[in-house]
Amino acid sequence: MQNIVVVGGCGFIGANFIHLVLRERPDIAILNLDALTYAGNLANLEDVSSNPRLRFCRVDIGDRAALEKALENETFSAVVNFAAETHVDRSILGPDAFVRTNILGTSHLLDIVRKRQGIRLLQVSTDEVYGSLGDDGAFTEQTPIQPSSPYSASKASADLLVQAYHHTFGLDAVITRCSNNYGPYQFPEKLIPLMIINARSGKPLPVYGSGGNVRDWIHVEDHCRGVLVALERGRSGEVYNFGGAAERRNIDIVHAIADRLCGNRDLVRFVQDRPGHDWRYAMDFQKAATQLDWAPRYAFDAGLQATMDWYIANEAWWQAVLNQEYRDYYERLYGKR
Ligand code: NAD
Ligand code: TYD
Repeated sequence: MQNIVVVGGCGFIGANFIHLVLRERPDIAILNLDALTYAGNLANLEDVSSNPRLRFCRVDIGDRAALEKALENETFSAVVNFAAETHVDRSILGPDAFVRTNILGTSHLLDIVRKRQGIRLLQVSTDEVYGSLGDDGAFTEQTPIQPSSPYSASKASADLLVQAYHHTFGLDAVITRCSNNYGPYQFPEKLIPLMIINARSGKPLPVYGSGGNVRDWIHVEDHCRGVLVALERGRSGEVYNFGGAAERRNIDIVHAIADRLCGNRDLVRFVQDRPGHDWRYAMDFQKAATQLDWAPRYAFDAGLQATMDWYIANEAWWQAVLNQEYRDYYERLYGKR
């Protein structure tokens, strides 16, 4: 049995990754470390909580002593780091937690891994570190890093630390950079689940600016398969881009959700734009296709339908998330737009 540590496994992508590994890699056992912030939810792993190949420990990677203690008696061959503060709008409201978790937390993981032998660290990063595109072109792994939000700046900082540890200490590290994910268990602060939940609840659908901004959407399962093959077959020190080959304007996504869930577009509202709003992201994932034999499997329209079906079937999951913290956040962000 191979033991791996998944950090941030109670969040959206981490939980989907754990489901995938338990399903498809019977020889891997997982220790899941997560601080259970507002975005971390044990309900995301409820169906696998009694699996003997999965253990959980609540720990904050910003707390170095606590992290060292959680790992001191553990033997493992890899760390996959999903843990992060992940929402751009929250990073604009207050960047401190982003600096602490995304930069300092990653540096703690790097130091712990460096002091042991034979451990690979896979850092889950984002296309947002590359900055914003105009109407043409796509990010490659050679595109210079030029982050625009406090969130993407903190993720870029973490990437640079990972690369420095590989260069300086020979640490076995791989970085993956992926475009916007959608799918089950996504916290309803992000575009797609927020619009699904608001549409189901008869609430306004707030579109920032013109709605013309473009994202490259990937189903979370395709991203998780990419992380897994990069962990297993990626070359040390390399960066791998993943994308969904599905560029869409925000307004077109909101319309698709409204059409299906409301039958009309009456709830759509154009609201004040996000400060510093990146215009467009698009990923060139030729390197992952060639070196890792990876390609996205989901077509966007089918994946979006399946995601809407999941939220309709799992209303208890998202109703439980709409707590006071969420209501306060929503009022703070959207109240003044
Ligand atoms: P998420 O916000 O849903 O989950 C983050 C998880 O990290 C939560 O379980 C949270 O409790 C945990 N966490 C936060 N701070 C922590 C800390 N100090 N110590 C331990 N655990 C902590 O995020 P997600 O959407 O699942 O994203 C996972 C990773 O993928 C992030 O690194 C993110 O930057 C990256 N990413 C996300 C997307 C996307 O579209 N969501 C795209 C590309 C890359
Ligand atoms: P988001 O899901 O926050 O991801 P990111 O900003 O990391 O790409 O937002 C996706 C796009 O949707 C982005 O262009 C901002 C826009 N958006 C809205 O128009 N309204 C909203 O309420 C949200 C949350 C996002």
